[in-house]
Amino acid sequence: MERFNLSRRGFCAGGVAAFSVRPTWAAAPDDLTARKARVQLAPDGYPMTEVWSYDGMLPGRTIRVGQGERVTRRLVNDLDVPTSIHWHGIRIDNAMDGVAGLTQDAVPPGHTFDYDFVAPDAGTYWYHAHTNSMEQVARGLSGPLIVEEAQAPEVDADKVLMLDDWLIDPDSGQFFDDFDQPMALSHAGRMGNLIGTNGQYQLELPAQSGARLRLRLINAANARIFVLRLRGLSGWSVALDGMPLAAPEPVMDEIILAPAQRIDLIVDVTAPEGETAALLRLDDDDQWRAQVAFPVQGARSGPRRERPAPLPPNPNTALPDLTGARSLDMVMEGGAMGRLGMARYQGRDMGFRDLVGQGQFWSLAGQVGMSDEPFAELERGEVVRLRIENRTVFAHAMHLHGMHFRKVAADGTLGPLRDTILSIPEEPLEIAVSADNPGKWLFHCHMLGHARSGMTTWIDVT
Ligand code: C2O
Ligand code: CU
Repeated sequence: MERFNLSRRGFCAGGVAAFSVRPTWAAAPDDLTARKARVQLAPDGYPMTEVWSYDGMLPGRTIRVGQGERVTRRLVNDLDVPTSIHWHGIRIDNAMDGVAGLTQDAVPPGHTFDYDFVAPDAGTYWYHAHTNSMEQVARGLSGPLIVEEAQAPEVDADKVLMLDDWLIDPDSGQFFDDFDQPMALSHAGRMGNLIGTNGQYQLELPAQSGARLRLRLINAANARIFVLRLRGLSGWSVALDGMPLAAPEPVMDEIILAPAQRIDLIVDVTAPEGETAALLRLDDDDQWRAQVAFPVQGARSGPRRERPAPLPPNPNTALPDLTGARSLDMVMEGGAMGRLGMARYQGRDMGFRDLVGQGQFWSLAGQVGMSDEPFAELERGEVVRLRIENRTVFAHAMHLHGMHFRKVAADGTLGPLRDTILSIPEEPLEIAVSADNPGKWLFHCHMLGHARSGMTTWIDVT
């Protein structure tokens, strides 16, 4: 404090020499301030929207660090409500996971919390509020977190594309604030009426014909499953949920990106000069529309490049050995048109009607929402198989904190590492988790309305 005053005096005195005694702030983390801001989310001509933002920006500014480096941020809560930050997909120290009520207390208005962790894996991640996240994320509290490889693939441009949707009243420009609307909670979730990228309604990124782009797609929407296609771009998918694929896979058809999922693409612009390449999305009316447009300006000289090499693998990502692995079962029930019999909510067995009265619609393994008891207690290093049976009529984007997992195919082969996976009604789903990160970790649906109304549980790794 004293040193600060000293520098203030020096500053006011205006002497150049005074700057030499200014303390450095190397030890203090950068602030990440959660606060209200007004931004132009809706197309030009419509009113601006009051959002909840990090540092006044939507999405929050992209945090970029090198693999193995520390991320330090002081969350400053300038909102009127408590909040916290979750670093989605990072194999993080449990105390830094940001889950209010499980790994930390929510940060009250006017208070701060210092996040300090190492990012062990290169890849595309994101950060978002994890206190009343249904509402806080919908209002804008999220941003990209990029961990760079020591040896990044050679591309002409590296673009983060954060796909999102917002539910906004076109007359006022403000969010509809019915975040507890039972219709959305009990059905597919809260869908926006305005879809955009990086906080813009129609994002345009000029590109050269023949250029090679790395596109880091992040689905930050509360419930929307993006169905995407390339036009005038051709290339490979090289990473899912941050984790490199063993071999780049050519993008042949549609890309399905569930809430919270990421995909890294390396694409070449094949459209000629003067045309517009695009990342297209299948819209609610079954039309393909540009999610991101790439007007082609100029051409890159030189021959067409070869297929990219795989991204360097992350540490500790060997295939787990399933021999003797314990199997756990999780039945998902509830929702509109579903059956939810008795389920346990806050320590009591309740019927569907009572649950609805509590604003709860879903259960995981007979449990509605959090309980003091974890869904499973795992020993550190243990490999478990989790069989998920989706008895609802909706898809659910199931996310595990703190560790990635792999899908186990019917023939026992293991899929790529993921931190969020789409469970489809009636389709059996099995995942294998190597419980190598100790702590209390959430497992929940990333359709955040579902998470709020029952689909949140946790595991304990000790
Ligand atoms: Cu992306 Cu529990 O969160
Ligand atoms: Cu769900």
